[in-house]
Amino acid sequence: MEYFGKSHRAQWKTRTGFILAAIGSAIGLGNIWRFSYLCYENGGGAFLIPYFIALFSVGIPLMILEFGLGHREKGSSPLSFYKVSPKWEWLGWWAVIFVMFGIVMYYAVVISWCFNYLIYSFNLSWGDDPNKFFFSKFLGLTRGPGEIGDIRAPVLFGLLIVWILNWVIVYFGVEKGIERANKILMPLLFILTLILVIWSLNLPGAKKGVIKYLTPDFKILKNPKVWIQAFSQIFFSLSLGFGIMIAYASYLPHKTDITGSAFITAIGNCIYSFIAGFAVWGTLGYMATVQNLPIDKVVSQSIGLAFVAYPKAISLIPTFSKLFGVLFFTILLFAGLSSSISILEAFTSAVIDKFNYDRKTVVSTLCVIGFLGGIIFTTGGGLFWLDIVDHFLTSYGLVIVGILECLLIGWYFKAKRMREHVNSVSEFKIGKWWDFSVKIFTPCVLGIIFISSLYQELSKPYGGYPITSLILIGRDWLFVTLIGAIIISSYSWRSEKK
Ligand code: ALA
Repeated sequence: MEYFGKSHRAQWKTRTGFILAAIGSAIGLGNIWRFSYLCYENGGGAFLIPYFIALFSVGIPLMILEFGLGHREKGSSPLSFYKVSPKWEWLGWWAVIFVMFGIVMYYAVVISWCFNYLIYSFNLSWGDDPNKFFFSKFLGLTRGPGEIGDIRAPVLFGLLIVWILNWVIVYFGVEKGIERANKILMPLLFILTLILVIWSLNLPGAKKGVIKYLTPDFKILKNPKVWIQAFSQIFFSLSLGFGIMIAYASYLPHKTDITGSAFITAIGNCIYSFIAGFAVWGTLGYMATVQNLPIDKVVSQSIGLAFVAYPKAISLIPTFSKLFGVLFFTILLFAGLSSSISILEAFTSAVIDKFNYDRKTVVSTLCVIGFLGGIIFTTGGGLFWLDIVDHFLTSYGLVIVGILECLLIGWYFKAKRMREHVNSVSEFKIGKWWDFSVKIFTPCVLGIIFISSLYQELSKPYGGYPITSLILIGRDWLFVTLIGAIIISSYSWRSEKK
């Protein structure tokens, strides 16, 4: 019972390495265009109000909870939950299973799109009609999820590259692989983003976009949907409920500033989104000016922003347009990779803790499975599958994990006990407000998000898809992974027998 991964547990070499890895996990594909699109849809600058409220009221407390749990129990998500209560081991498994056998499978496919578009930027292959290029030529989109169509060779090839990169990084472990990769990827990401922001802000008409981005429309705050979207965005963006932050914190030395690291990671992620927003909005302002259109006619949907509207903007830029494209898609690629490796590590560390297998074997096997499992999303019907799986796993899977972890730590383990642990090692001490957030506020907010998603689900089929597709692809994906989690947790811990 004593060992449980403690004796030869890997450790971050430096605190900076840990923070960069945690920020690397948080900053992902969603920060660059999803955040900007949400701002646009939900009242421009006014969206920043619920967004930052969500950050401080839910994001940071939950980040402290996950860091504290991983650090205290020195374990991956299943091991940490097991140590809190053996009955709850399944919850730790469920999070890492649906993230590994779900989220990262399609996430890697989106990174593969970025990789392809990075190459396409060299000769602006999307031509005059980026919309047609993306949906018909590149994705070969079928009529619906029931029609799978062909595997798209460029997407498959990109996927292979993405999994090789994931493999190379995670194979070498926490310090030599993940920490080292993030120490290179993150500073590069920040520098490239800054260049993109400055460049975009200097495009003619950029000011128009920025004004739209920052001008608040307070009326919109009365709409509950805006609040729900802000809270969901914080949750996904900070990689909460993924089991990642628990695993990453388990590699920390005993004496470490948990609360300070949680604040830096969470605030750093949101500041990055806010700054990257200027690049997106500056470019949209430019497009609106060149095409003589109002800004709200430039973009139709979030997915289109990165792969349709942006390529269009790139083509319109008079000088060095190709370089602008390369820059944008490299940023997406780096942001995506630093998140996908964190997902792979969350599952790897869980398997090593439970079965004591060799890291290299686990990582190699998972990368092969990840690649093979992702093939379905590289088909002509892949975008529909991606959309459905993403909807169910993020709106329900992550949210349920978030609610249960708050209740388990807040009420069963006792928030006060976790707070005392966190304060005993951290420089920045947290007060009783944290107990209130973990025990009551966060589960209530997540509960409202859950109920409202369920309500919408039952009133209207998501995305207009056939009900059977939603059940078979979305709901059952959640159920099958849940059954997998229950089965794995019924096995005994290898390390227990030692
Ligand atoms: N937190 C990661 C993202 O925002 C998963 O993409």
